Amino acid sequence: MHKYCLLRKVMDAHPKFEIAPINGNFTNKSILSITQFAREDFEIVFAQTAKMRDVVLKQGSTNLLKGKVVACVFYEPSSRTFISFLTAAQRVGAGTIPLLGMAATSVAKGETLQDTIRTIGCNADAIVLRHPEKGAVSFVAGYSYVPILNAGDGNGEHPTQALMDMFTIKQKHGSLDNITGVLVGDILNGRTTHSLILGLSLYKNVTLYLLSPESLKLTREDYEKFTKRGIKLVEISSEKDMPKDAHFWYWTRVQKERFVSIEEYEKVKHSFILTPDTVSKYAGKDTILMHPLPRVGEIEEAVDTDPRAIYIETQMRNGVYTRMALLTLITGKTE
Ligand code: CP
Repeated sequence: MHKYCLLRKVMDAHPKFEIAPINGNFTNKSILSITQFAREDFEIVFAQTAKMRDVVLKQGSTNLLKGKVVACVFYEPSSRTFISFLTAAQRVGAGTIPLLGMAATSVAKGETLQDTIRTIGCNADAIVLRHPEKGAVSFVAGYSYVPILNAGDGNGEHPTQALMDMFTIKQKHGSLDNITGVLVGDILNGRTTHSLILGLSLYKNVTLYLLSPESLKLTREDYEKFTKRGIKLVEISSEKDMPKDAHFWYWTRVQKERFVSIEEYEKVKHSFILTPDTVSKYAGKDTILMHPLPRVGEIEEAVDTDPRAIYIETQMRNGVYTRMALLTLITGKTE
């Protein structure tokens, strides 16, 4: 039986909670989906992210969230998102509740997600939540006493990753308008790619090439949902069809945990491998090479020393600054 089939049933039977648009005001809002954001809201996050970067570089930390507690509650494995949220919380002066895996909590006794989140909300001022079920984070936000930040919901969205990725692209290219990018790998299941497409769709003249095996293309429903927002998506099946001089490449892992059959995963897992040869053939001199990580063989380590490869350091450091920004914004403690 599917581990979260009871939760799925409850979610399917439940009327959807409204996800509040940001509308320039982050205070006490949950961050659940990039669809909550307007361009102006992105700009607020980017400005606060730059401020937090200065804080870290000049003095390491600040006490803006002194007396607050942030819980990081991860039902799925994580290195970057879990650690960077904990780091971000501590760098803005908050205490933390770290839960990486729920095996030692009452979830193992059958406690529902709703009860777990209400319990944590009686202790913490904000909850960072990762869950394997698409929609579960938004669903349970309707039960929560405190703001929830979506740290990845199955093959749904990963909004805080998109915010740091957009900040990174803007930092490197100066604007998010007039951008051409290439997204590679598991576009079907990649929550980071879904959120990034949603985010960039609010900018002018953005074209994204989506390079994936046939079986890992976007669902037609997602394709329509994204293109209706004004973004141009070009689905391609060979590296030869990538545009010259794209502003960024965004390589991704094939998401083994979303496959029902290991044989199907094995067939497609290394369809596109980024090598120094790929870079020299198809990348422009200013094409930045991105990946949300973890990587599991789809980028050769030999690429890491290319100055355009920013997946190891720049992207991950920006993750901490972005998450500091979000924690200060939702608690209304930005100054
Ligand atoms: N990018 C990302 O979400 O990485 P983790 O799964 O390690 O958190």
